[in-house]
Amino acid sequence: MKSSSVKELLLTAPTLQEVQVNGWVKTFRSNRFIALNDGSTLNNIQCVVDFEQFDENLLKQIATGAALRVTGTLVESQGRGQKVEIQVKEIFVHGGADPEAYPIQPKKHSLEFLREKAHLRVRTNTFSAVMRVRSALAFAIHKYFNENGFYYFHAPIITGSDAEGAGEMFRVTTLDDKNPPLDENGQVDFKEDFFGKETNLTVSGQLEAEAYAMGLGKVYTFGPTFRAENSNTSRHLAEFWMIEPEMAFYDLDANMDLAEDFIKSVIHYILENCKEDLQFLEKRLLDEEKTKPQAERSEMTLIEKLGFVADNSFKRVTYTEAIAILRNSKPNKKKRFQYPIDEWGADLQSEHERYLVEKHFKCPVILFDYPANIKAFYMRLNEDGKTVRAMDILFPGIGEIVGGSQREERLDVLREKIAALDIDEKELWWYLDLRKFGTAVHSGFGLGFERLVLFATGMGNIRDVIPFPRTPQNAEF
Ligand code: 4AD
Ligand code: MG
Repeated sequence: MKSSSVKELLLTAPTLQEVQVNGWVKTFRSNRFIALNDGSTLNNIQCVVDFEQFDENLLKQIATGAALRVTGTLVESQGRGQKVEIQVKEIFVHGGADPEAYPIQPKKHSLEFLREKAHLRVRTNTFSAVMRVRSALAFAIHKYFNENGFYYFHAPIITGSDAEGAGEMFRVTTLDDKNPPLDENGQVDFKEDFFGKETNLTVSGQLEAEAYAMGLGKVYTFGPTFRAENSNTSRHLAEFWMIEPEMAFYDLDANMDLAEDFIKSVIHYILENCKEDLQFLEKRLLDEEKTKPQAERSEMTLIEKLGFVADNSFKRVTYTEAIAILRNSKPNKKKRFQYPIDEWGADLQSEHERYLVEKHFKCPVILFDYPANIKAFYMRLNEDGKTVRAMDILFPGIGEIVGGSQREERLDVLREKIAALDIDEKELWWYLDLRKFGTAVHSGFGLGFERLVLFATGMGNIRDVIPFPRTPQNAEF
């Protein structure tokens, strides 16, 4: 007999047909009611057991967390909140779960506790909802680019280039620990580490995507990227997924238009396709916010916030305008910024970004035309000689969600920049080739996928929106 998913059954009319379903027990009440879930939906199917008809030893194995196959008739439910239930005829226990040992019991567990049970937490409502939304967002992203003339491009994970020039890379090594190659001073020669070459895990697929945009026109990457920065914040991971579109013949304005349209489109997609999960996450957030002082609670619910972002224009402001706003403002009556903005040219801290988005403009903000000296080497220099065609998108509650730019397409200017930063031209020979042969205006950006999932789900910590987070403390799973 073909098994159905819980989601399918809950949408089926109670026509007394014979059905079969597999899943994990959420609760087993009064030796009679099994709430079964298989991950296909947030809701459980109620399975009603006539315990006198079942072997006592079998019933003993039915506990929260056990995996079952249930066969029975689909009948109209007498219970509230559900249309159908299964009148159970047969139960097969795939595997039990000892209640003394199984950590995910039917009660509220803290997110911190569940982080230590990363292999089991997806069986909770919160994590299954987050991971279904994550999956839907990934699908919406591919859908958007495919419908807009982009090709999906696979950037290498192991690479010789430091795309961001920030030196936050994990080295890749094939070194034989016991017998490593040594340099003239008897030290391990790391230059030899990848079959005789120096390599690292990619921090961004951008440089390679630029090469492909200059042949395929419009491409995007969607893959894991790695940063060896030792930052323990609720917004940083050592391994995160990034979406990086790159477009030939796009200037910064076209780049900003695309980024805004893209983000709105994927948010619309989940608003339409993840209603049940979003309603659940909205309720979770409201409950969490009840514990906070009134002033810290958000004015909009999760779904209102998503709708607001999807339907309203992002505010576009130059770095210079933003600095003027920040200089003239006090974040609140008593306090100044922890890092006061005194000089043009200083990098913005997250307190500044959040002030602009959450207090001043009260909407997503695209900041552009940043000082050249605080941005990466590949960004296009403006005519003023001191700013570059960079853009960051800042989101309420998140801060920076996108970083992008128009790229420097002029060989001579790029060479000067590389020399000024003491980067060895030899490392970028192929990147410079792109400016020698058929160079053109082009642009792109990177969206941090987990930051988007954070925003979409209303979760507070980036460790809770990726299945197995990699942070300086955690690579156990
Ligand atoms: O601003 P970033 O460093 O830009 C780049 O890597 C460019 N090469 C992208 C491009 O133009 N193709 O990173 C882009 C985005 C950030 O805005 C942020 O959302 C996310 O990636 N991000 C991180 N997310 C989680 N953990 C980290 N450690 C992150 N670092 C950046
Ligand atoms: Mg950035």
